[in-house]
Amino acid sequence: MLAVFAKSLSADDPLSGLIVGEVDEPSRVPDGWARVQVRAASLNHHDLWSLRGVGLRADALPMILGCDAAGVDEDGNEVVVHAVVSDPEWRGDETLDPRRSILSEVHAGTFAESVWVPRRNLVPKPPELSFAEAACLPTAWLTAYRMLFTRAGLQPGATVLVQGAGGGVATALIVLAQAAGARVWATSRSEEKRERARALGADAVFEPGARLPERVDVVAETVGAATWDHSLKSLKPGGTLVISGATSGQNPEASLNRIFFLQLSVVGSTMGTRDELERLVRLCVERDVRPVIESELPLEQARDAFAALAAGDVFGKLVLTR
Ligand SMILES: NC(=O)c1ccc[n+]([C@@H]2O[C@H](COP(=O)([O-])OP(=O)(O)OC[C@H]3O[C@@H](n4cnc5c(N)ncnc54)[C@H](OP(=O)(O)O)[C@@H]3O)[C@@H](O)[C@H]2O)c1
Repeated sequence: MLAVFAKSLSADDPLSGLIVGEVDEPSRVPDGWARVQVRAASLNHHDLWSLRGVGLRADALPMILGCDAAGVDEDGNEVVVHAVVSDPEWRGDETLDPRRSILSEVHAGTFAESVWVPRRNLVPKPPELSFAEAACLPTAWLTAYRMLFTRAGLQPGATVLVQGAGGGVATALIVLAQAAGARVWATSRSEEKRERARALGADAVFEPGARLPERVDVVAETVGAATWDHSLKSLKPGGTLVISGATSGQNPEASLNRIFFLQLSVVGSTMGTRDELERLVRLCVERDVRPVIESELPLEQARDAFAALAAGDVFGKLVLTR
């Protein structure tokens, strides 16, 4: 089958190990797993990290990339694929399972004609969502959902600052926070992306590092080092910084005095549960919320999509289709 896979890893030149080509379908699939014919799969920054060797080990190569998919199962049902694979014995929140992995880390990913996942990882795709829209939900949008509502406890009427507005997670944060009745402020390095963020529902937009009209209740971070100091300085006393990514670097100055003196909460967040994915799907349908898609490309053109993501030249999600 046609697939997009990592043949080698390179921290400096991630695209050098990317191959679009034929692979064998797995000969043995574990009991209780289902085959999904992939109709759409979206890119995440995670796929670039994998090619850089972060979260993907050299001894697992070659590895089909991709965390997100929507498609059709063997019984003809339209499904969204939950990307977090927990141990079969694990009970409760699967994001807390120390043995969990995300598709494309241990098990083959979604950038292929078919993907195999535990049957419990399939969530019904409502007809209101296209395959491309549904394929944006399992990683970036689920991460944003959990950050805001589970981990930061965002309240209607509160103000949230979203850093790096153009990203896949960031655009989801803007749309979901707005849908939940929060006041949404966003930063982006690019004037064009700031305007697009405003069109998406941000109530005000700022350059990175700008002084805000007032301090905020919640800051949602995926950028990391480049925006960390601004994020801490933007919070009200008692405010919450929720973080799920560190694209620009993971070791900024911690500013410990500010954290304890202003009684700030710094909260980590990773992916989400199957239950949260079901609630996110329902929110999209009931509140007419749709993922922000930058472009859809055929699977064969995956390299162009990876290059655009690596260049930071994207607003929202890139989707590969079959
Ligand atoms: N923990 C989890 O479960 C989880 C899940 C999903 C994603 N993540 C992580 O979250 C991060 C974002 O993922 P994504 O898929 O949304 O990535 P993405 O679509 O590539 O977005 C990254 C955004 O970060 C901003 N940015 C990048 N470098 C920056 C810099 N030096 N200074 C300021 N802003 C910068 C950019 O926003 P502007 O151009 O608008 O400034 C860019 O659009 C990644 O590190 C990813 O691994 C983690």
